[in-house]
Amino acid sequence: MPSPAQFSCQKSLFDIPADVTYLNAAYMTPILASSALSGQRAVAAKLQPWQTDTRDFFDPPARACALMAQMIGARADDIALIPAVSYGMAIAARNLSLRPGQKIIILADQFPSNVYPWQQMAQSHQATVVTINRPENGDWTARLLEAIDHDTAIVACPQAHWTDGTRVDLVPVGQACRRYGAALVLDLTQSLGVMPFSVRDVDPDFMIVASYKWLLGPYSYAFVYVAPRHQQGTPLEDNWIVRTGSEDFTRLVDYQPDYQPGAARFNVGERSNFMLTPIVVDGLEQLNQWGVDRISSYLSGLTGLIAERAQAIGLTVAAKACRSPHLIGLNFTGDMPEGVTVSLAQRKIYVSVRGNSIRVAPHIYNDAQDIDRLFSALGELI
Ligand SMILES: Cc1ncc(COP(=O)(O)O)c(C=O)c1O
Repeated sequence: MPSPAQFSCQKSLFDIPADVTYLNAAYMTPILASSALSGQRAVAAKLQPWQTDTRDFFDPPARACALMAQMIGARADDIALIPAVSYGMAIAARNLSLRPGQKIIILADQFPSNVYPWQQMAQSHQATVVTINRPENGDWTARLLEAIDHDTAIVACPQAHWTDGTRVDLVPVGQACRRYGAALVLDLTQSLGVMPFSVRDVDPDFMIVASYKWLLGPYSYAFVYVAPRHQQGTPLEDNWIVRTGSEDFTRLVDYQPDYQPGAARFNVGERSNFMLTPIVVDGLEQLNQWGVDRISSYLSGLTGLIAERAQAIGLTVAAKACRSPHLIGLNFTGDMPEGVTVSLAQRKIYVSVRGNSIRVAPHIYNDAQDIDRLFSALGELI
């Protein structure tokens, strides 16, 4: 296996013009050019539905789950396919218990799909949502560990904060949850694929991830990992394909009380998703082949460079120990000048603004030249 340093920019595998600097993976990534071809073949297959057979309902989604399982150290059976993070959070909320007076812990400014279900659950159970304030030094982990106690029922958090990439060290957080009997629900949409993660090390109750950002996948396709201890739980809906014997289409009205094994019952209806699944599979195959560790090292080289260049022009960034490898917020000490992102976009440089910081999110199609272009433009604009 080549060393991390040998990993190089993969822009040639994407349809990104030479003059475009796309540093906005946290918004959404482009799919691989090869995935677009897989997707086009999948769309064309619907021109001739007589070519689609029973195995097409089962094998591609099983492959998607196997690839996700490989990425996170789980079994393919522990994974179900869902359309969005909000759907996965609804599964988690439905299957966790909460007593009056207990608390659900979240982080300040967390993405809404991982906030609304907890607000609603707390309200209907006379419980409280406790929000961890944003730490000045970026150290969410210490704050979380202080907050988790005997009254904690659920901790719902990310591994990298979506606004600026400040990280949560999930191993001690998982340990603290187990020590106090709290459930751990993770939204890894802003980190999985580019930041190492293993369910064996963290042991979450539920882990949910959308595929359209760091996983190089399409929109409306997400995964939920369900810990074996919850696999006898209640799904959100009753679809036919997750019941036993659904492979035999001639006998679907022999209604079955039992589900397929593992987390299968949590799959969304029509999870076979013929057009999107090949795109997801292609992206995951490529990421697994490169290896998350190598991708992570490559990206942390780029964010290190971004941090240095940002500080040199008077912007502040979180301390290295609190940063994730792939996502970094550049903070203005005063107000951010008007229209920075628009002016950058006019130069074909794409980033996002979240709060008072510019969020820079490189992926494996970026290199040091992109960072140079960003900072020569910022040098003119601020
Ligand atoms: C951290 C995080 N979670 C989830 C999502 C998407 O959520 P959903 O799939 O519910 O639309 C986003 C989108 O920006 C996100 O940043």
